[in-house]
Amino acid sequence: MSLDIVILAAGQGTRMRSALPKVLHPVAGKSMLGHVIDTARQLKPQGIHVVIGHGAEMVRERLAADDLNFVLQREQLGTGHAVAQALPALSAERVLILYGDVPLIEQATLERLLQKVGDDQLALLTVDLVDPTGYGRIVRDASGAVQAIVEHKDASPEQRQICEGNTGILAVPGARLGDWLGRLSNSNAQGEYYLTDVIAMAVADGLPVATEQPQDAMEVQGANDRIQLAELERHYQQRAARQLMAQGVTLRDPARFDLRGEVSVGRDVLIDINVILEGRVVIEEGVEIGANCVIKDSVLRKGAIVKANSHLDGAELGEGADCGPFARLRPGAVLGAKAHVGNFVELKNAVLGEGAKAGHLSYLGDAEIGARSNIGAGTITCNYDGANKFRTVMGEDVFIGSNSALVAPVSLGDRATTGAGSVITTDVPADSLAVGRAKQRNIDGWKRPTKRQG
Ligand code: UD1
Ligand code: CA
Repeated sequence: MSLDIVILAAGQGTRMRSALPKVLHPVAGKSMLGHVIDTARQLKPQGIHVVIGHGAEMVRERLAADDLNFVLQREQLGTGHAVAQALPALSAERVLILYGDVPLIEQATLERLLQKVGDDQLALLTVDLVDPTGYGRIVRDASGAVQAIVEHKDASPEQRQICEGNTGILAVPGARLGDWLGRLSNSNAQGEYYLTDVIAMAVADGLPVATEQPQDAMEVQGANDRIQLAELERHYQQRAARQLMAQGVTLRDPARFDLRGEVSVGRDVLIDINVILEGRVVIEEGVEIGANCVIKDSVLRKGAIVKANSHLDGAELGEGADCGPFARLRPGAVLGAKAHVGNFVELKNAVLGEGAKAGHLSYLGDAEIGARSNIGAGTITCNYDGANKFRTVMGEDVFIGSNSALVAPVSLGDRATTGAGSVITTDVPADSLAVGRAKQRNIDGWKRPTKRQG
């Protein structure tokens, strides 16, 4: 059966106290609405319709994609009114309603819900709550059949005793929706067009309402303020940490690990405390990551070691390569197998060949460094003349003396050597020594200045 998904995301989110529309606030580095859209995509619907209102332009701009239909709700007159705005674009046999500020809803839960909706039946996701204050209550008859949803503000004292709450997530037969939405009224405590009133209408039309519950109540938790946002974030991170541990990763402390993107892991990976993984990260078997590392869009091959306090962005470490502590690997930094980058070394768009080493305090940018070459402490590739960038190319087994400045464009042949403190401005042939510094002279019997008397 075909499926349309409507995501409600027009609300203001006053309690966030933010210039950013509520649904754009991130959980695990991705906007709440982005999470909901990605989950919706997994259900392979024929259309995803996002109802926007507050901050509509910003939401549309940030999330624009070919498979999304944005629908403007100019005034927020209620959840029923919001869905009605999308109505002209709906044509599927089933319509699923989701919420842009309920980001942790799981695909599996929605699939279970969708199994229960049909041409002649609705499916409602409900949750049993210890404190259902504020939630719509699920009213059932003596046989347990759902009769209606009554909003908290409209509920009688007896109805307020009901602990089964409405999550808001609902799947309905598409052919009936227009009729029901057209008959909604706003004569209720909040003066809004309630989507929830559709339930009683369906029952009156003779359609049963099936219910389903999420595995975990946090799946249907919305974020109205930054406290709830932080709770969702922690819950997401705990889940991510558990999934990684189940795949054979040791997390020194699962409470001090953050995933803000996607990671694939091999077995026997060790991750120390306060590590943040962002974007797409690939971690192969036996990799070790020290404390306080931020690793974004990077690939760590088998047995690679990232020592404490390193920052990687768009980098690749070959098998058995290592970097840090305090290494900074920027986009295009590639370490060959067993290559080594030590403390306070920055690489950008630079390839270190197999077994090559840059042990201390260097900047290597736009550079190609051959296998087994050794870069002395304090070496700088001068790759920028203020207008253009130039490359430094080095062969294999090159030895760069400490504190050398390699003024690009420049190339050094295999087994070339530079003397410490050299400024290298012209190419160095293979097997030769380049010394580009002032010659030392010693002055015999040099008398040091002495302090003047009186
Ligand atoms: C709604 C449900 C309630 C349920 C609760 C769960 C209704 C009438 N009530 O109540 O039964 O227990 O969610 O959290 O549906 N929105 C729009 N346009 C509007 C109004 C709302 O896009 O005109 C969006 C909001 O941005 C929000 C969501 O719909 O994401 C829910 O709206 P809200 O006003 O918070 O509904 P509740 O009163 O919490
Ligand atoms: Ca709400």
